[in-house]
Amino acid sequence: MSASKSSSDNARNVLMDKIVSLCKRRGFVFQSSEIYGGLNGCWDYGPLGAELKKNLKDYWWRRMVRDRDDVVGMDGAILQNRSVWQASGHEKTFSDPLVDCKETKARFRADQIFYTPAIIGGDSHGYVSITESPSMEEEAQQKIRKIQKKGGIKGEIAPLDLKPLTEATAEERAQIPSPNATEPGTLTEPRQFNLMFKTYVGPVEDDKNVTYLRPETAQAIFVQFKNVLETSRVKPPFGIAQIGKAFRNEINPRNFTFRSREFEQMEIEYFCRPEDGMRLLDEWLETRLKFYEEIGIPRDKLHILDVPEKERAHYSKGTYDIEYEFPFGVQELEGVAYRTDYDLTKHQEHSGKPLEYFDPNTKEKFIPHVVEPSAGVDRTVLALICQAFDEETVTNDKGKEETRTVLRFAPRMAPIKCGVFPLLKNKPELVAKAREVQEMLRVHMNVFYDEGGAVGRRYRRQDEIGTPFCVTIDFDTLGENGDETKDTVTVRERDAMTQERIAIKDLLGYLLERIS
Ligand code: GAP
Repeated sequence: MSASKSSSDNARNVLMDKIVSLCKRRGFVFQSSEIYGGLNGCWDYGPLGAELKKNLKDYWWRRMVRDRDDVVGMDGAILQNRSVWQASGHEKTFSDPLVDCKETKARFRADQIFYTPAIIGGDSHGYVSITESPSMEEEAQQKIRKIQKKGGIKGEIAPLDLKPLTEATAEERAQIPSPNATEPGTLTEPRQFNLMFKTYVGPVEDDKNVTYLRPETAQAIFVQFKNVLETSRVKPPFGIAQIGKAFRNEINPRNFTFRSREFEQMEIEYFCRPEDGMRLLDEWLETRLKFYEEIGIPRDKLHILDVPEKERAHYSKGTYDIEYEFPFGVQELEGVAYRTDYDLTKHQEHSGKPLEYFDPNTKEKFIPHVVEPSAGVDRTVLALICQAFDEETVTNDKGKEETRTVLRFAPRMAPIKCGVFPLLKNKPELVAKAREVQEMLRVHMNVFYDEGGAVGRRYRRQDEIGTPFCVTIDFDTLGENGDETKDTVTVRERDAMTQERIAIKDLLGYLLERIS
């Protein structure tokens, strides 16, 4: 492995460790059930994480529902009749290929283990395998060099042909070592593992009462399509939007909150005429890319994957994955999929209820086609934190250099919009004025009052959680240095660390203009 590559991998890990530790230290994200040893794949959002997540969901709802005439919202139940999951195909096919390692007892998703023949100097020396990572090629090369060194083998290493384990033949599998095992051949044959959490409705735990925690919010939208159509004065093209929890019993939850077992989705099912599907797919992709820019995720950190036909769901005529450059690799934030009329057709077939739309203009009935932008709340929150995280060297009040950790959130996403500080906590007039300013602002935004420690320290605490503005009430505010500065405050901006003197009467307008 080249030195620069390994050091950049290392830097990425260090960066991720810093982000995870900040999230815990400042109350963004905690391990779920932590005092009992945690529950793998589940996370709890602390006070700041809950605010950040709420800002994201509220802004999505505002831009995708309230600002548009053609999208309405709904809030479906997590538990649905089992027939919903039978009709949608989830009960039969919503599964991942699972393999066990007989030696280490580890479990993997077969499509996330990659293998390659170790060809050195033209001769075969077995296989190496690795789990998915940002630098799979380099890791595989490193493993092959180890074989070379151990066997005293000389010669060039042939170009690597990395393939997922799902593509291995039984013969190959017998020779592929599991990623952490010593001997090859310890991986079982992949078997399909259904990701839905099964549960029983009512007191009797028998087959008749089985259902599942929803693995996506989308199905309730399809099932309620007719009710919404008949009650909301909408007609195709129109969308139904929903935000809510989804549950998947992921084989390998990982990368902090990125792949969880309990998570939230923000989904729109946009119903249209068949001939408009492909055009609307492209339009929705643009709409969604713009949204990410508006929340502070720049276009150049996003990758658009035009999913090839063989990797798309069989019913999809086109799918784009919107991916973000996380420190642990480029990974999916959202899928924008043209699902044709598959879902409504399936529910019509299984329920026996008509789900067509009668177009009064053309006097024809048709099953609407669907374009679906489906985003993950938790993944977007994680992207917001990764994008915002920054460290810079600054000189402190005592002339010493120190590291300033700052979350450069777009102000509209920041959990706290404004810190309010009296210069000194033992001066009642300063405290009273600061409380007055806090009361005035808190009706309109999330503010945080802090009177502890030097003002510089208080600024740093707010920088670390991404508060875009801090307001300090000082002796000028009280009029002790003349009428000119009476009833003015210092407003300090997080990124440039610049300070401005603003009249209290103009403060609310000043802040609202910058945070909304
Ligand atoms: N209705 C379509 C659907 O559910 P998906 O690609 O399986 O499509 C959509 O999921 C989004 O939900 C993903 O892009 C991702 O942001 C989020 N998501 C899916 N599985 C997740 C998991 N295990 N943990 C966190 N987010 C997940």
